[in-house]
Amino acid sequence: MANQRDVIIACDFKSADETIKFLDRLTRIRGEVISCDDNRFGEGRPYVKIGMELFYAEGPEMIKLLKERGHKVFLDLKLHDIPNTVKKSMQVLGAYGVDMVNVHAAGGIGMMRAAKEGLMLGAARFADKPKLIAVTQLTSTDEETLHNELLINKPMDEVVKQYAMNAKAAGLDGVVCSAFEAAEIHAACGADFLTVTPGIRFAENSTDDQKRVMTPAQAKIEGADFIVVGRPITAADRPIDAYTRCKEEFL
Ligand code: C5P
Repeated sequence: MANQRDVIIACDFKSADETIKFLDRLTRIRGEVISCDDNRFGEGRPYVKIGMELFYAEGPEMIKLLKERGHKVFLDLKLHDIPNTVKKSMQVLGAYGVDMVNVHAAGGIGMMRAAKEGLMLGAARFADKPKLIAVTQLTSTDEETLHNELLINKPMDEVVKQYAMNAKAAGLDGVVCSAFEAAEIHAACGADFLTVTPGIRFAENSTDDQKRVMTPAQAKIEGADFIVVGRPITAADRPIDAYTRCKEEFL
């Protein structure tokens, strides 16, 4: 079966208020906020990502609010601790009904297996099971940091590929990676292993603090399954146009 593919909006806002204001603006047609079962917006409301800042500020209520409004939620908390702690924490997160959640692959296969067990226990009552993905190496870690600070002497692409294979061996659904790495990860881990790729910009956008960027159309060619897009949508004059353009280019 082909992987589900979608555009995920990174809701990097400080508060629930700011987030809901943005989403209301995004989902407004002729002045009216459309309801989540109104298919004028396509299939349901946009898939959104909540990161640490918003989750720590607003807590689990934020997830509840977004789910009630019909959004799918990727909870980007990047857990990394001993297996037992990660398992118990994932059980809590799974019970919130998140659609996707992540860990650091650097925690090792044992930690990732424990994460998956905990998540499935927590999500037992949901028919649609959440996806669990792993961060391979942060895009803020460059080759120099890898070698000189972390004392990992292999080249970055080899490390990323090995971490992806570890995630697969632990039973995870995929990884967060750069769209530049998506094809190689699919080749190593299989076409059904998800690649979730941030660092997306339209051709005319500034790259902001992202080092290696791709357009939604290029990410599609590279075989990315999900693109995570923040500022090109959230800071656009007309977010709905930017979101629609992402979907048109990528899907
Ligand atoms: O605004 P922008 O499109 O750069 O947002 C990208 C989002 O993806 C942010 O929420 C950022 O934290 C996240 N992310 C990333 N690179 C990673 C992992 C997550 O940019 N390696």
